[in-house]
Amino acid sequence: MNLNKLKEEFTTLSGEGAVDVFFAPGRVNLIGEHIDYNGGLVMPATISLGIYGLKRNRNDSIVSLVSKDAPNRVIINLNDEIKYTTSDGWANYPKGVIKKLVESGFRIGGADIMFASTLPMGSGLSSSAAIEVLTAFMMLYGENSIDRIEIAKMCKDVENNFVGVNCGIMDQFAVSMGKKDNAILLNSDTLEYEYIPIRLEGYTLVIMDTGKRRELNESKYNERRKECEEALLRIQAKISISNLCEAALEDISILDDKILRRRVLHVITENERVKKASIALKEGDIKTFGKLLVESHNSLRDNFEVTAFYLDTIVEEALKQPGCIGARMTGAGFGGCAIAVVANDRLDYFIRNVSLNYKAKTGLEPKFYEAHIVDGVDFVGNL
Ligand code: GLA
Repeated sequence: MNLNKLKEEFTTLSGEGAVDVFFAPGRVNLIGEHIDYNGGLVMPATISLGIYGLKRNRNDSIVSLVSKDAPNRVIINLNDEIKYTTSDGWANYPKGVIKKLVESGFRIGGADIMFASTLPMGSGLSSSAAIEVLTAFMMLYGENSIDRIEIAKMCKDVENNFVGVNCGIMDQFAVSMGKKDNAILLNSDTLEYEYIPIRLEGYTLVIMDTGKRRELNESKYNERRKECEEALLRIQAKISISNLCEAALEDISILDDKILRRRVLHVITENERVKKASIALKEGDIKTFGKLLVESHNSLRDNFEVTAFYLDTIVEEALKQPGCIGARMTGAGFGGCAIAVVANDRLDYFIRNVSLNYKAKTGLEPKFYEAHIVDGVDFVGNL
C-alpha cells in the first residue's frame, strides 16, 4: 500500500494537515476450527494483508467514515444515538464499535477517518474483525489507555449484538493480540493464551483464496452453533460439563442424533489436534503439523460439513502437488480461503499447478498469497 498516495486521497476528502496512520492485520487460523464457541483451543496468526486506517481528530462530535474500497461516506454524530442501517453496509462495523466505546464510557472525540484494505473482502481472512479492532484502537489511541483484550471483547460484542453474527472471540482476539512470526494458542473459554513461534524452515505457509465468496456463510454458521448448543444440552442432561470441548469421545454415545454425533466428534478431535499441533510446532516437527492440518480438513468436511466443493477442490489439488505437506480450509468455511504448507523450492510449481487444476474443475480463478505473520493492530506513524 502506498501510504503517501493514501494521504493525498485523504487530503482531497478532508483537507490539508497531518494524519495518523494505523494498520490492523487479517488472520488465518492455523488449526482449531469451529472451536472458539465450544470452549476449546484455537491457533490463529495475523497476516500482512489487512486494513489501513487514516485518522485526523476534529474539534466537534462528528465522525466521518470513508473507505477507499466503497463509494459511500457515512457521517455520525457522537451525541446522537447510533443505529444499524442496512444501506451503510461496511460502515456498520465502525459505527457499532464507536457506539460501544461511547456506551462503555470512553472519552472519544470527532474524527475524519479513511479506511483502505489489502484484504480480499468476504474471503474468510477476518476483514470484519480487522475493521472493528482497527476502529477501536484508532479511537482510543492517545486519549485512553489501551487494553487489547478488552478491545477484542468489545468488538466481539459488536459483531454479535450490533452486526448480528454469532461469532466466537478468535478473530477479534487475533487481530488485537497478534505477534510477528508467532501463532496464538488461545483458550477460548478462559482467554489464557501463549505465543507459539512459527518456524517452518524450508517451507512456506500459502494462503489460497478459492474466489468463492461466503454468501451462505452466516446462516450456516449460526446453524452449526445451534447444533453444538443442542448437543451440549443433551450431553449435560447426563454428565456435568460446561462446554463441548470438555466432553470425552465416549460421551458421544449419549446422543441419538447422527448429525449431532458427527458435530461433536469434530469438536472433540479438533481440540485434540490443536494440542498436538502446538507441540509439533514447538518441536519444529513440520511434517506432523502438516498431517494435522489434513486431518482437520477431513473432519471439517466429513463431520462438521462446512468445507463444500470449492474448498475441498483446492485442498485436494494442493495435496496432490509434490512438496505440499498439509492443507486445510481456514475460517468459517463454505468458501473463502484455505492454507497450505509448501516446500520453498516447489512453490512456483505448486501455485501454477493448483491454479490450473482448480480453475479447470471450478471455473474460478484462485489467488495465492505467501503468509507473512505480523504483529496485531498498531499505530504506523504520523504523515
Ligand atoms: C469465523 C468466526 C470465528 C470462528 C471461525 C470458525 O471466523 O468469526 O469466531 O468461529 O469462524 O473457527
